[in-house]
Amino acid sequence: MPETPTPGEARSLAQQLLEPLHRRWAHVQAVAEKARELSPAVDEQDRELLVVAAWLHDIGYSPEVRDTGSHQIDGAAYLERQGYPDRLCALVAHHSAASYEVAHRGLADRLAHWECERSPVSDALWTADMTTGPAGQRMGYPERLEEILERYEPDSVVARAMTAARTSIEIAIDQTTIRLERAKFS
Ligand SMILES: [Fe+2]
Repeated sequence: MPETPTPGEARSLAQQLLEPLHRRWAHVQAVAEKARELSPAVDEQDRELLVVAAWLHDIGYSPEVRDTGSHQIDGAAYLERQGYPDRLCALVAHHSAASYEVAHRGLADRLAHWECERSPVSDALWTADMTTGPAGQRMGYPERLEEILERYEPDSVVARAMTAARTSIEIAIDQTTIRLERAKFS
């Protein structure tokens, strides 16, 4: 069974799957870079995992991976099929408060296959994703949420789910910011 991939291996896999989706690939590269910057907010032994999860968090958008309509579940299921560790699959499955969107799609049972880790690692992963725009631009979360709500119809699954997920995401970002500040002064 393969171990957790290295950041370099994760990058190659993400590139192979997402490069044809130009904007998505730009977003993922910027999320990985942001995750690297946020890595002092997590335990030293988890820093590489954070960056690996950032590289792989959106592979479910790849035409080669897409299946259920939930990119979070599809990405996690793909990684599971490759034999990667549960923890990595679960971080991808639940990234950025996925449970709200997945529930709206009627796929909560599928998502429940993976444990929802709430930890400095998941908080930092969500923060990296939710402060990076769709083409890789840096943005604050309020701006990012506004951008998402402009891109999707108000009663779409994504718009409704992202509105419902707001508090969970804000908590993850606040906690990551606090941990990063603490790490700077320790
Ligand atoms: Fe993303």
